[in-house]
Amino acid sequence: MDAFDLSGRTAVVTGGSRGIGRAIAHGLAAAGADVAPLARSRDDVAAVADEVRERGAASTVTTCDVSDEDDVRAAFAEVRQALGPLDIVVNNAGVNPDAALGPPEAVDSDDFDFVTDVNLAGAFACARVAAEDLHDRGGSLVNVASVGGLVGLPRQHPYVASKHGLVGLTKSMALDWAPDVRVNCVAPGYVATDLTEGLTENEELAASIRERTPLDRFADPEEVAGPVVFLASDAASYVTGATLTADGGWTAR
Ligand SMILES: NC(=O)c1ccc[n+]([C@@H]2O[C@H](COP(=O)([O-])OP(=O)(O)OC[C@H]3O[C@@H](n4cnc5c(N)ncnc54)[C@H](OP(=O)(O)O)[C@@H]3O)[C@@H](O)[C@H]2O)c1
Repeated sequence: MDAFDLSGRTAVVTGGSRGIGRAIAHGLAAAGADVAPLARSRDDVAAVADEVRERGAASTVTTCDVSDEDDVRAAFAEVRQALGPLDIVVNNAGVNPDAALGPPEAVDSDDFDFVTDVNLAGAFACARVAAEDLHDRGGSLVNVASVGGLVGLPRQHPYVASKHGLVGLTKSMALDWAPDVRVNCVAPGYVATDLTEGLTENEELAASIRERTPLDRFADPEEVAGPVVFLASDAASYVTGATLTADGGWTAR
């Protein structure tokens, strides 16, 4: 299937140093793209850049805090210089710290802002900074939201607000950027990563999540990478403004 081949494309994956983003970086590289994983920890980024190279693709070690637009601008310029203009941007960086969990009255505005600055404003900044390249190249932008972007989740208000925002942003940007650039979204369910350690380590909680999930398990990060690679590729050439769930059937109930 040539349509899945990403040879000759350059991709950026924010939050590409761990968990789902790392699996996405591997998946894009396996499909032939050169990949820059971006995150704040240089050591973690360097490790994934090595793994990308092991898959025969080019990479670069660039750090970036997506909540700081100047940093995004500098990081994207560095990647461009190392790997060429950007064809694919995956907005995957995301946070959901304990301080932002709880009933509305327990969450202060700094913690609300911290989550939305990374998950939503950060993604929008990356899109804006990459816009010129994506238009020149007929590129593809993929946002990683969550089932929390489609339904409510109790005690996760900043996260749910940020992910609903990302699903909305996907639709509005797809309209503005058509027909040149496709903009899509993947909404994962529960995936075993550092982010969900508190859930997977609590046997009772993990069992209740599995029970609520028709496929009866947490996803592996690679199971989110597949849908992202598909949406980034020409195999999805008539898909824009869409949100694809990768949730084991969680939202089918
Ligand atoms: N795991 C799940 O069950 C699940 C479910 C639905 C959706 N998601 C979404 O999938 C995405 C990845 O989640 P994950 O589970 O793989 O999380 P993770 O294991 O905690 O990894 C998060 C990644 O984001 C980076 N990051 C955090 N803050 C950043 C910032 N300000 N600027 C740049 N990079 C930043 C981290 O690196 P540094 O800390 O070094 O910056 C790391 O690479 C998130 O958007 C999350 O909301 C996850």
